[in-house]
Amino acid sequence: MNLKSVHDFAIKTIMEAGIRIRDSFQEELLIETKSNVNDFVTNIDRETESFFVKKIREFDPAHKILGEEGMGDRIITLDGPLWIIDPIDGTMNFIKQHRHFMITIGFFVDGVGQLGYIYDVMRDELLYAIRGEGAYLGKVPLKKLEPLSIEEAIIGINSSWIIPNQKVNHEKMVDLIRTVRGTRSYGSAAMEIAFVSSGKLDAYLSMRLSPWDIGGGLIIAKEVGAEITNLQGKPFNLLGEDTFIIANPSIHKVLLDQYIELR
Ligand code: IPD
Ligand code: CA
Ligand code: CA
Repeated sequence: MNLKSVHDFAIKTIMEAGIRIRDSFQEELLIETKSNVNDFVTNIDRETESFFVKKIREFDPAHKILGEEGMGDRIITLDGPLWIIDPIDGTMNFIKQHRHFMITIGFFVDGVGQLGYIYDVMRDELLYAIRGEGAYLGKVPLKKLEPLSIEEAIIGINSSWIIPNQKVNHEKMVDLIRTVRGTRSYGSAAMEIAFVSSGKLDAYLSMRLSPWDIGGGLIIAKEVGAEITNLQGKPFNLLGEDTFIIANPSIHKVLLDQYIELR
């Protein structure tokens, strides 16, 4: 497979999708809820995924597609070439703020990440990685992450971690918040993964993410030395939902061993 031609195709298609999304603000948005009253999908999420599926089918019909909105294939194995697509990550931000949402895409072959993309549509900022060739923000190569202490860290975390919950001991999370330099919550997993990969955050935790939230980020993170696992320290399950942590490698183990006590 000529990975360079797949990469060129991916960048061109992401840029076209970005223009379509920005143009969509001229039209009325159709909003529906999915699993609960705060879980939204819009016609633009669906239209953007359809756009990617159509373009990928034209590019190479042998490539499989796992997309959040279900317009691709039913995926039960990671064998062969596979695109993992979230057409809009941060739909609530998209609807409410008209910013802070990402297109994120990963391209895998036999379960191994080859190409990863996180595109901030409103800032027109593309973060991408090619396996073994590093990660780039636009044309600028990203540096490997520098070590730091937990006291110096800024952590991406939302309020559900510090109220009593069924997943983790929330008191230990309160300890963590007292220990670190600061916390942030951006409402787009892909954006938070991009921020950890580029050193703007030092870790990001989630109690539940899906493969499309992290597919692109997984490949970018690896190129800069960020560590991604589930909260048990095992590889994230790309065929289902899983818990999630991405961290600067110097604090990944500290977070898992000292602060995240799973119930
Ligand atoms: C969501 C966002 C959000 C995260 C949720 C995701 P969506 O993706 O990434 O930040 O907390 O778990 O489902 O629904 O906007 O694509
Ligand atoms: Ca998502
Ligand atoms: Ca989405």
